[in-house]
Amino acid sequence: MTLNEIAKKMCAKGKGILAADESTGTIAKRFKSINVENVEKNRLNFRQTLFNSRAMRDYIGGVILFDETIRQKTTLGPSIPELISKHGAVPGIKVDKGAKPLAGSSDETVTEGLDGLRERLEEYYNLGARFTKWRAVYKISDKFPSAQSIKSNSHALARYAALVQEAKMVPIVEPEVLMDGSHNIDTCYQVTTDVLNECYNELEIHKVDLKGTVLKPNMVIAGSKCRDKSSAEEIAKKTLDCLKKNVPSEVPGIAFLSGGQSEIESSKNLNEINKINDSSFLITFSYGRGLQASALKEFGKNQENLENIQKAFNHRAKMNGLSSKGEWSEELEKEFAA
Ligand code: 13P
Repeated sequence: MTLNEIAKKMCAKGKGILAADESTGTIAKRFKSINVENVEKNRLNFRQTLFNSRAMRDYIGGVILFDETIRQKTTLGPSIPELISKHGAVPGIKVDKGAKPLAGSSDETVTEGLDGLRERLEEYYNLGARFTKWRAVYKISDKFPSAQSIKSNSHALARYAALVQEAKMVPIVEPEVLMDGSHNIDTCYQVTTDVLNECYNELEIHKVDLKGTVLKPNMVIAGSKCRDKSSAEEIAKKTLDCLKKNVPSEVPGIAFLSGGQSEIESSKNLNEINKINDSSFLITFSYGRGLQASALKEFGKNQENLENIQKAFNHRAKMNGLSSKGEWSEELEKEFAA
């Protein structure tokens, strides 16, 4: 398959990406919230239960894994990447080494992980990965993001993406403008514009073939502490407008992060975007919390009750699959709750 074909498969209409690449530190926070011990066995159990769900075949085009997970063998027989491929989804891997304090602007971060990346990519390819993820993080405040943070993170994203394509995998390019803060939706629009512009500028300099990439952006949305809550219609209109103006049309797929929105909000907003999507982009989800929160709660209640964990995950995957076609509705959510 060409990189363009892989990107389109990951974002195919009705499907999206499951972000299950929480680092050991991040999954520790998730497990703490449900009183589950953060040990390898529990991490494997939870994740293999999701990856073996019925929803995988119909609604999941790709799964982003963490280094530990891509090397694991399931208790069901196959390795984790084999299990994912068996269900028709593409296995992928997070390759960045996290956001670290940026020298000179230490309240901001720069994502690290370029050293030795070429060698790690070769290993991941051999383990079955066909796409990768790298997340850059931008904070909004009266001073931030600084030009320094936008430039250094965009440069790193582009060097990462070029190496990934050299290794014959699809890079997910993730410039995340955080929801933290009290800024309004228009500030988010402006910062997202600046960040996307610099990102595509650097990708061009580094000769990245955009047809073989997937963009993972934030939605254009007010900060979580902002008093003016925007409607889903406004979020959709401003998000689509921002993407159409700042993302080159060669990019085949755009898969949003959920970024702290609730499960329902992230389905509803994605649905509104797809209802008015008149661009050439396949627009879908690449959710972590937006797909896993309910399943995680079930896992906390009873780790052995695979049926309930899978039921919760199947439902969220189906709802987001519908949102990727603009066919989701609140009635469908209520039917499930009943
Ligand atoms: P959330 O959907 O929970 O924001 O996670 C997506 C992700 O992979 C962030 O890098």
